[in-house]
Amino acid sequence: MAQTPDLGLADLRDAAAVASLSRRYIEAGLEPSWTVERVSRAIRHSDSTVLVARLGRELAGFAIMQFGDSTAHLSLLAVATGHRRRGLGRRLVGWLEDSAVTAGTFVIRLECRIGNQDAVRFYRAQGYRETGVVARYYQGVEDALRMERDLRRTTTAGS
Ligand SMILES: CC(C)(COP(=O)(O)OP(=O)(O)OC[C@H]1O[C@@H](n2cnc3c(N)ncnc32)[C@H](O)[C@@H]1OP(=O)(O)O)[C@@H](O)C(=O)NCCC(=O)NCCS
Repeated sequence: MAQTPDLGLADLRDAAAVASLSRRYIEAGLEPSWTVERVSRAIRHSDSTVLVARLGRELAGFAIMQFGDSTAHLSLLAVATGHRRRGLGRRLVGWLEDSAVTAGTFVIRLECRIGNQDAVRFYRAQGYRETGVVARYYQGVEDALRMERDLRRTTTAGS
């Protein structure tokens, strides 16, 4: 039976692996903007949370959320290919949503590459709805789909 990855806060030793997963799964074809230095800043900064899913020494996935006064922004999320469709993405997002609620922040926003229909379907399944398109958001070459979930509403996709 497949083992279940443990979720926990990243430390600075995870920054290189997180940046590598981001380059591979999120920023493919773009100039990498989430460098090791930027991920390290997010790990250190109190307004952001870098969550990792560990399976032994391997990083099976990660997510980064930045907290504002009234909204939180899900900046990055990825699950390594061999670990997909086992509920890990849902667990990572759920963990961060719970932290946002604990901090009194109920609205979560994110942008997603418009061509990434798998991610759009994933976010819809977690109760996110589309709120608009931002033209050429990604380095002037790809549009972003903006999505949002208000955690005070209990409705989920399809209901
Ligand atoms: C999007 C991503 C994080 C989902 O992670 P995951 O661990 O596979 O997702 P889960 O197993 O938690 O999926 C939960 C539900 O979301 C939906 N879902 C997930 N992936 C889906 C896909 N490829 N197509 C359709 N629906 C999908 C399903 O309803 C799924 O439930 P089910 O498996 O019981 O049908 C993962 O595919 C990924 O890392 N993709 C590359 C990076 C990326 O696109 N990141 C997001 C944009 S920043």
